[in-house]
Amino acid sequence: MTNTNLRDFLRSRRSIRRFKADPVPDSVIEDLLATATFAPSAHNRQPWRFAVIKDPAARQRLGAALTSKMRADMQAEGAPQSEIEARVTRSLRRIDEAPALIVLCRDVTDVRVDTPEEAIMGTQSVAAAGLQLLLAAHAEGLGANWICWPLYAQTETLTALDLPKDWEPQGMIIIGHPNEAPKEKSFKSLQNMMAIR
Ligand SMILES: Cc1cc2nc3c(=O)[nH]c(=O)nc-3n(C[C@H](O)[C@H](O)[C@H](O)COP(=O)(O)O)c2cc1C
Repeated sequence: MTNTNLRDFLRSRRSIRRFKADPVPDSVIEDLLATATFAPSAHNRQPWRFAVIKDPAARQRLGAALTSKMRADMQAEGAPQSEIEARVTRSLRRIDEAPALIVLCRDVTDVRVDTPEEAIMGTQSVAAAGLQLLLAAHAEGLGANWICWPLYAQTETLTALDLPKDWEPQGMIIIGHPNEAPKEKSFKSLQNMMAIR
């Protein structure tokens, strides 16, 4: 791959939220996750953990847990019932329709020392692996989307999936064969995001 090809590849990744029903083979998922683990991490701790949701019952439990927390949070904020139900339905459809579903976690014990800065670096490292996973899916011609939902329901996610208590859910990534063209995306001006000193 030339530098230009790689640059174009990196610039062509987009979030894909609708998928064909075709499954993504387990071997492909494992390969994508293996590529994700090549991400950089603070002190090379590799604190990322991946919950690969294969069992339909686990997927159903996750959906139920996340929607129940979403309902409670929105009710507490005073959102109208119709808005709550519309959001729950839309979000649940994402989980139901995703051919592959991976909950991205940080192992909170996998830090060099127990300080807030090290915890942040752990989260940053997990995010690097998340991006690497998105790019690996893109390289396979698959579509993927990072969804923040489990971050808002960390305890509920752990319980629903019976995951180790030291795993801290950061988000989830859905992957499948694209069934949509991504919408136009606007970019902020690089000039406004740079400080040259
Ligand atoms: C940390 C993080 C959380 C995100 N959460 C969501 C989400 O909950 N739902 C969603 O549809 N997209 C989510 N996204 C995807 C963004 O909406 C998307 O990356 C952004 O709109 C830019 O579009 P692009 O990925 O096609 O370039 C998230 C992305 C990141 C990095």
